[in-house]
Amino acid sequence: MSEQHGNMIKSPQQLILMVFAAFFVPLIIILLLLTYADSGTKDSARPTSEQSLELIKPVAKLNFVDASAPKVYKTGDVVYQNVCSSCHAAGAAGAPAFENKAAWSPRISKGYDSLVTSAIKGKNAMPARGGASPDDVSDYEIARAVVYMANAAGGKLNEPKAPAPQAEK
Ligand code: HEC
Repeated sequence: MSEQHGNMIKSPQQLILMVFAAFFVPLIIILLLLTYADSGTKDSARPTSEQSLELIKPVAKLNFVDASAPKVYKTGDVVYQNVCSSCHAAGAAGAPAFENKAAWSPRISKGYDSLVTSAIKGKNAMPARGGASPDDVSDYEIARAVVYMANAAGGKLNEPKAPAPQAEK
């Protein structure tokens, strides 16, 4: 019994073995721990690239408007489709219908200014700006839509001039 508590290393071979064991056993344990700790991250917690896209989507989808960028005006065509066509496509509520020359020609003969004023200020059942907010559709864009509609019904109105950058609200 007492002999066994003595020096366990009794030969040079045993010494070499002990040195190797002392070095490699902790190393193997550390490696095993690393693999174990990493395995969870790899499979579940770390998102795939599709999941990453999904995760950042609420932010990535925001359309950041560069306030200093030059304003891009909507064409008359686009304004007509977005705002005016709900009434003017079929001529709802007595609106002069799109491409209806008979309905448009007496109005076109009143002239560009008169038509644009009616469109911006409203007229009878025609709401001001077709109900659009001036923040969404500027005066210039309304005028473009008027010209687009009038010319589609045989008018020969000139495309309005784009406002100077600061003059537009
Ligand atoms: C809610 C339905 C409605 C919408 C939306 C609408 N309009 Fe009209 N619009 C009318 C009606 C109704 C009239 C006929 C008004 C009248 O002469 O009594 C009219 C007439 C007009 C006229 C002729 C005005 C005149 O002096 O004879 C113009 C120009 C016009 N609309 C432009 C537009 C433009 C541009 C838009 C889109 C930005 C638009 N409208 C959207 C209902 C609408």
